[in-house]
Amino acid sequence: MIFDTHAHYDDEAFDDDREQLLERMRNRGVEYIVNVGSSMASCKSTIGLIRRFPYVYGALGVHPDEISELTEEDYKWLGKNIYKPKIVAVGEIGLDYHWDVQPHEVQKYWFVKQMELAKELDLPIAVHSRDAAKDTLDLVKDCMKGGMYGGIIHCFSYGKEMAREYLDMGLYLGIGGVVTFKNAKKLKEVVAYAPLEQLVLETDSPYLSPEPNRGKRNSSLNLPYVAEAIAQIKGCSEEEVIAVTEENAKKLLLRK
Ligand code: NI
Repeated sequence: MIFDTHAHYDDEAFDDDREQLLERMRNRGVEYIVNVGSSMASCKSTIGLIRRFPYVYGALGVHPDEISELTEEDYKWLGKNIYKPKIVAVGEIGLDYHWDVQPHEVQKYWFVKQMELAKELDLPIAVHSRDAAKDTLDLVKDCMKGGMYGGIIHCFSYGKEMAREYLDMGLYLGIGGVVTFKNAKKLKEVVAYAPLEQLVLETDSPYLSPEPNRGKRNSSLNLPYVAEAIAQIKGCSEEEVIAVTEENAKKLLLRK
């Protein structure tokens, strides 16, 4: 069964049919979904979703583009709510030097603080990193040395050398719709290189729909296309990709 490790069903793109769509998941082979917070508002919506749907789990954290609104008060709220049952990760957190909405020092400050929360609670992290390869690696490495449990590099966008660094530390790479794109040469190389035992499936719904639905609203129902693309690269069956990535995600996220 499919495990979607990263989706945003709180997004307004799902306002018209969220309930119906999520209710259909189980009949269509999707067994688990992690709804990932990115702003304080979406963290609060995530808590609502995990209460309503037994197979939806949550990650709480604030995305680097959204940290301008973050206060020490919010940080305390996160610390308190991350203890809730079914909160399985801290995320999405990280660095984004592509959109560069906040100064790098501010991004780093909140990234490290949220990783400290993960460490304290022994939870994995869900990392967003765009055009910030070196700083992300340095900070994650430091926290791993400090005893952080591990996590997922979501929507992995760097090359093989960077992949090796994370794989060596025992982290997982989140693979989504991009792997089906014709021009995704670098990501296909990474998927060929990384062991299947360290890959997890993700959608980033409503974004990044795989081919043949590229450009449309994404949902976990599209993950078979991603599994198929990985299977082609790995020379194995789609069923094997789905089964192994489900095991990986369960081991990392549902171990409590
Ligand atoms: Ni995301």
